[in-house]
Amino acid sequence: MEAKMLLYRDLNDQLRALLEDERDMIANAANLASLLYHSLPDLNWAGFYFLKNDGLVLGPFQGRVACTRIALGKGVCGTAAESRRAVVVKNVHEFPGHIACDGTSNSEIVVPILNDGKVLGVLDLDSPAFSRFDEDDCAGLEVLVQSFIELTETVAP
Ligand code: SME
Repeated sequence: MEAKMLLYRDLNDQLRALLEDERDMIANAANLASLLYHSLPDLNWAGFYFLKNDGLVLGPFQGRVACTRIALGKGVCGTAAESRRAVVVKNVHEFPGHIACDGTSNSEIVVPILNDGKVLGVLDLDSPAFSRFDEDDCAGLEVLVQSFIELTETVAP
């Protein structure tokens, strides 16, 4: 198996052990953000936005301070939340409507967090490298998000 997929498999094992005895959404999101930020290479931001009253609001994260609210359909996060599909951006400067929180970000991946088909929020990773994320990251992160949903008591927005 490719090294990247092995890393994601290992991260999923770590995540499941980490969340085994805790169901709180904020606590689990905070630990997942930290796990990703400190385990995946070349990241400058890793964290969550959760859907509240029809807009995304900043959740637990690691990295520099970020914008607190993103409307559905806006930026990479709002696009992923509205379409309910992961968005991989190789060059954020070419993404129409990209919201720049940290000027050092050059590529980004956003994975929606879905519970019973409903959007709960998004997981967002930023990198200073161009083309940092690919379909393998997407598949690996979707498995992690699935574990997060399964092991967390999600709170309706
Ligand atoms: N770049 C995101 C905004 C969030 S920050 O990257 C943390 C976007 O375009 O939605």
